[in-house]
Amino acid sequence: MKILSIETSCDETAVSVLECSGTTITVLGNALSSQIELHAQYGGVFPALAKREHAKKIVSLLKEALSAASLLKETNQSVEIKVKQEIEELCTHEQGLAADLVTLYEQFETPNIAHIAITTGPGLEPALWVGINTAKALSLLWQKPIDAINHMEGHVLSAVFQEKSENEFVLKELTYPLLALLISGGHTELVLVEQPLSYKKIGATRDDAVGEAFDKVARILGLPYPGGPKISALAKEAREQSLGSAQDENKFSLPRPMLHSKDYDFSFSGLKTAVLYATKNKELTDREKKALAREFEDAVMEVLLTKTFGAVEEFGVQTLVVGGGVSANMYLREQFEKVRFEKFPHLAMSFPAKDLSTDNSVMIGMTSYYRHLHGAPLQDSPETHADGNRSIDKESLMSWQKA
Ligand code: KG4
Ligand code: ZN
Repeated sequence: MKILSIETSCDETAVSVLECSGTTITVLGNALSSQIELHAQYGGVFPALAKREHAKKIVSLLKEALSAASLLKETNQSVEIKVKQEIEELCTHEQGLAADLVTLYEQFETPNIAHIAITTGPGLEPALWVGINTAKALSLLWQKPIDAINHMEGHVLSAVFQEKSENEFVLKELTYPLLALLISGGHTELVLVEQPLSYKKIGATRDDAVGEAFDKVARILGLPYPGGPKISALAKEAREQSLGSAQDENKFSLPRPMLHSKDYDFSFSGLKTAVLYATKNKELTDREKKALAREFEDAVMEVLLTKTFGAVEEFGVQTLVVGGGVSANMYLREQFEKVRFEKFPHLAMSFPAKDLSTDNSVMIGMTSYYRHLHGAPLQDSPETHADGNRSIDKESLMSWQKA
């Protein structure tokens, strides 16, 4: 089956076409446009701007993904007046989108896809709506159902497919219980998965998400958004040059928030504030910036490792999955691998393939297919809407079976 998937929850507009069969997924088309440069001047994502950009880009990305999948065949057909009106109503808040979608339908044949997978939350609601309204309009035009996918479930499942070759992914054999550490710009969560599609959040951040802390610390150090990769690069240089090591008299000392709390919750806003105080009324030298970045990354890692492996031990976890934008961090991957190797050699561990750590639409299609493989019905309803706080707990197979 072919799945068209769309993601617009934050600052990436993304569309993909996946060919799914058995345990294999082939990415036939994948088009992504990042708004990073646009938001960099604001030091973070500006929702109204994100929405406008998604609406501007989405139809050309749709064409790009469909064309790469050889599903963009020229034709000449017209849209019924009634359908056209419905689409105009649906997209009243997205300037130009209805017209672009109607033109797409008129110029190209209905693609041979099974359904449209769309992120409906969590995320920025104005941004989410652009993808949702696009999916709803395409559903009306092409007469294809929708599958409303949770973005965080996408971050979990992006790591359970192994990249076999370029664009080809195979579902790993998973042993349970599985634990997912989800670390992104908006979320920091530990999710226990006792069996496929049974998600239980056992901990989350009480304030800032990990990625948000990286971004805010970068801003304090005068580095552009998104800060994660930049802080991490500075920290790497510091380690290579022995800056900020225990022997370094300029070593900064930052707190490890909630390290010994007896739960799986996190807090990163105090860490960011500590960085702010450490830099107050001071012009840091480049060496000091590197040393501070290193200490910040070490503090974050210590907390993430302690909490995550604490949960691995307590719940007898067999598979650990780390997903979300911050899972792109190479130092983090090394540190997790080190603890696994030394203390939990039987634990299976999995990270997303390159390019699937940060936001993308491939993971949304993967999630839709994974749910289908496990017998979950499509999440399609006329009430499909943006849910900025959509929680992964609610996606459990158990909860819809009971409903
Ligand atoms: O999952 P994602 O693309 O978007 C959200 O759903 O939030 O995550 C983006 C976050 C940003 O905060 C970014 O700074 C962080 O992931 N990030 C990193 C790295 N690459 C991206 N943080 C630390 N190290 C990295 N290498
Ligand atoms: Zn994300």
